[in-house]
Parts: sequence; structure tokens; C-alpha cells
Amino acid sequence: MELVIASNNKGKIREIKPLIDGIELLSLQDVGFNEEIEEPFHTFEQNALAKASAIHAFCQKNTFADDSGICVNALNGLPGVDSAHYSGSRDDEQNLQKLLHDLQGSEDRTAYYKAVICLIWADEVYYFEGICNGRITEVKQGSGGFGYDPIFIPDGYEQTFAELPMDIKNSISHRGKAVRKMVEFLNTMSQN
Ligand code: IMP
Repeated sequence: MELVIASNNKGKIREIKPLIDGIELLSLQDVGFNEEIEEPFHTFEQNALAKASAIHAFCQKNTFADDSGICVNALNGLPGVDSAHYSGSRDDEQNLQKLLHDLQGSEDRTAYYKAVICLIWADEVYYFEGICNGRITEVKQGSGGFGYDPIFIPDGYEQTFAELPMDIKNSISHRGKAVRKMVEFLNTMSQN
């Protein structure tokens, strides 16, 4: 079974790989796609579909895309779908510093990560979603993970995702939940 992962985000790919077993994961490089994939929409679902469709149209292979972000309650859900370029640049450090700045003085620091996977399998479209609740720290903690991980503490823990080992993050994260739902679906499909 081959499956193309429609992403150039190294952080995402590093997390997703160990969750997918028995399926040959192909990168964008493997299928010869060397451009940026557009994600111009205002929902995770639409952007995930746009990315998966672009790659599926390019190589005609089964493909999935993850669109994800962090939603901060005191900011009415921002940065949300704009997480990757919240500061105006695609720089993780600048984005998380802007978020810390925007939350200065806020008592409510609750937030959640959301991931929506769009899978195009045998020309049909399927969606899988995962959410991980937590809170935003006052300062950066830890050096692992990517994106907003140094300032996000998941519920039930005292360490940020940048301090927790990747297997713990994967066991509770938005992406881990969404990927496991997709893998379960693919296992069912391969048995039929
Ligand atoms: P996109 O799905 O390509 O639009 O990018 C998702 C963006 O959301 C990333 O670039 C990060 O800024 C943020 N994000 C999504 N998931 C995570 C995560 O697991 N850890 C840290 N940041 C994340």
C-alpha cells in the first residue's frame, strides 16, 4: 500500500512516520513535486482538501494532507488556520513570540491544537480530526517539537510539547489522534 504525504513540514512528517505501519509513505520529493502547496482557505477542512487534491491531481496516487493549527480561546480562536504565518512570516519563533505578545495580561490562557486530515483514497475523499486541549505558557520551555510546542502545555501535564518526548506527544496530540483514525480506516479498507 502506497500513500503520499502532502506536506513539506518536517515537524509534521517526523511525527506522522512512526504512527503509520505497513504502508509505504511517499514524500512530495518521491513523487517529483517540488513546489509550495497553496492553502488559501479559512477552514482546516478546505485547506486540507486543497493540499490533498493538488497532489492527487499531480501524481494520481492515494494521498493525505494534514492542515492544523493552534486556537487560543482569549483570541477568539486565532491564530487557527493562520498558525503557520501568524506574524506575517513562516518563522516559528516569530509566530510564537507574536502569540505570547498578544496574550500578555490575559488570565485565560486556554488553547487547543486542531488537526484535520484529508485522505483521498481510491478517488474518494475522507476526513479525520483530532483535538488536543491545553494552555499557553508565559515563556518558552523546551527545545523539542516544532511550531508553538515550546509554549503549549497539554491538559494533564506540567511540561510543554517541546519538553515531552515525541511518543508522549503522539499519544495525546491532535495529529496523533487524527492519524490513528486514518490508520484504523485504512486497516478496515485493506481487510475488505
Ligand atoms: P499548516 O497545516 O501547514 O497550515 O501549518 C500548521 C501550523 O500550525 C504549523 O506551521 C505550526 O505553526 C502550527 N502547528 C500545527 N500543529 C502543530 C504542532 O503539533 N506543534 C506545533 N505547532 C503546530
